[in-house]
Amino acid sequence: MKSDRKVIIEKHKKFSQSALWRLQREYFDKEGINAWVNQVPFYITSNPFIAMCYAKIVLPFMLDWSKKNPEAKKHPFYVMELGTGSGRFSYYFVKSLLELMKAQDIQDIQFCYIMSDFTKHNIKYWESHPSLKPYVDQGLIDFALFDMETERPVTLINKNIRLSPDVLVNPLTVFANYIFDTVSHDAFTVHEGKLYELLFSLTTDEKNMENNRPVDMEKIEVDYHIHEIKTSSYYGNPHFDSILEDYKNKLVSTSFLFPMGSFNAIRFLKKLANDKLLILSTDKGYSTVESLDHLGHPAISFHGSFSMMVNFHAIGEYFKNSGGDAFLQTPRKGIRTSVFSSGFKLSDLTQTWHAIDEWVERFSPADYFALHSRMRDSYQEVTQLDIIASHLELARWDPHIYLKICNHLISLLESSDAETIDFIAHNMPRLAENYYFMPKTECVLFEIGVFFHAIKNYEQALKYYLSAHEFVGDQFGLFYNTALCQHHLDKNEDALVTFNKALVLDPESKETQEWITFIEKKLAGGGDEEKSPADRAEEEKPE
Ligand SMILES: C[S@@+](CC[C@H](N)C(=O)[O-])C[C@H]1O[C@@H](n2cnc3c(N)ncnc32)[C@H](O)[C@@H]1O
Repeated sequence: MKSDRKVIIEKHKKFSQSALWRLQREYFDKEGINAWVNQVPFYITSNPFIAMCYAKIVLPFMLDWSKKNPEAKKHPFYVMELGTGSGRFSYYFVKSLLELMKAQDIQDIQFCYIMSDFTKHNIKYWESHPSLKPYVDQGLIDFALFDMETERPVTLINKNIRLSPDVLVNPLTVFANYIFDTVSHDAFTVHEGKLYELLFSLTTDEKNMENNRPVDMEKIEVDYHIHEIKTSSYYGNPHFDSILEDYKNKLVSTSFLFPMGSFNAIRFLKKLANDKLLILSTDKGYSTVESLDHLGHPAISFHGSFSMMVNFHAIGEYFKNSGGDAFLQTPRKGIRTSVFSSGFKLSDLTQTWHAIDEWVERFSPADYFALHSRMRDSYQEVTQLDIIASHLELARWDPHIYLKICNHLISLLESSDAETIDFIAHNMPRLAENYYFMPKTECVLFEIGVFFHAIKNYEQALKYYLSAHEFVGDQFGLFYNTALCQHHLDKNEDALVTFNKALVLDPESKETQEWITFIEKKLAGGGDEEKSPADRAEEEKPE
């Protein structure tokens, strides 16, 4: 029997070598796509707005680069997403970029978007994803296994191309959302002008151990131990050592993280890409020396996996000190977006610089999320449909939001003006195009059907109900609503078949039985003067 005894998992470990990172990887590998089902937060970095902001920067970058380097148009621009996860962001980014290219009639720029992750389970999910398929078929999206903690060749799975300086003729654009916080860090303390390594000890209850390893990361307790660093070449790398030295001199009393896992990945990607990188990263983090001062030992936030605050300042210093550039968004509460370049200065690329100012520094993904969160927490209080419609527009008709508010939205239809309802109806195709299937989530196509059904546009309702079937399968509510629309469109033979399918799924449904009887009579040539079950009930409510 297991006792309440504490077990030491490890003692005085350099943070980047802690078992926590192995546990983190095991978590993501085991969970695959399920990590995003009510466990790891994703919305903040995987919504159509942030994807649009990135596209608004990457397109001018490709154009600026091609203008300065006329040969560039002969080669694709590769855009690689690290730690991609669900693929929701990837889909919205490629969609946004193509829309922008179409709107500006840009036909002579080639790009290939590489969705990468260290776990095969995520790649498997992307390979069968219906939203990604058209882009994969056109060669616009490819997949690659890439573990940021190891230097192994990176090969595009479909094109069978290995990334190398010969292939990456144009700069490699890298997206690192919510991943620099997930891979390994070192940790340090500065106090009275001295620099210390912060070493980690992990303990847990014996009950939380199985096969010699902890089961639940959240039940791990962390203790810290400091050890003075007397050398000025801790890493034996002048770039990293000079940042540490700078912190030792400038910081008063604090502990901070040093993103070594991210640095190793960046150095490897620099080698692959002839030292030419453009990196966009959105995460929680610190971007100034001042904000790194007077902090306690690093907090680890567990949410299925765990994450830390990213030291964007150190990443920025690294790029600036090695001939590149860094644009760190002025601090916002929550996430912030940073842009880094290697091999060229951002400020030398006029359109790119302007776009970064517009989409990172001004109304940014962080601002969008702050506004959205306020609305998300109080939409029930909003009784004007036009305000909800404006929020949906700001969110670029995001199904994730629509699914949260659709019941409320439907309840407001009756008291709303025709213009607003028309506006929403007009944008429903955009909402449908943004549907990115994730397991165990509601299907927005069904809910769009309910919207049209509620405004008595049965043709559109039927169209969306039929397209929802592929995702939700055989469901009573779907069949029942589909059959109602078929009946309203005088497709009574179809309606009968569909009501019967509904009845199989819920043989007790009185309404379904009444409808079947009513339609059978109608098809037999009788029952014209008889009221339909909908007329008998005062109004018809879709399920
Ligand atoms: C916190 S999630 C972020 C997912 C996505 N980028 C987002 O913004 O929602 C971290 C992702 O990184 C992946 N990951 C974890 N460790 C990694 C590593 N060492 N190399 C590459 N990917 C890793 C996980 O499988 C997971 O998909």
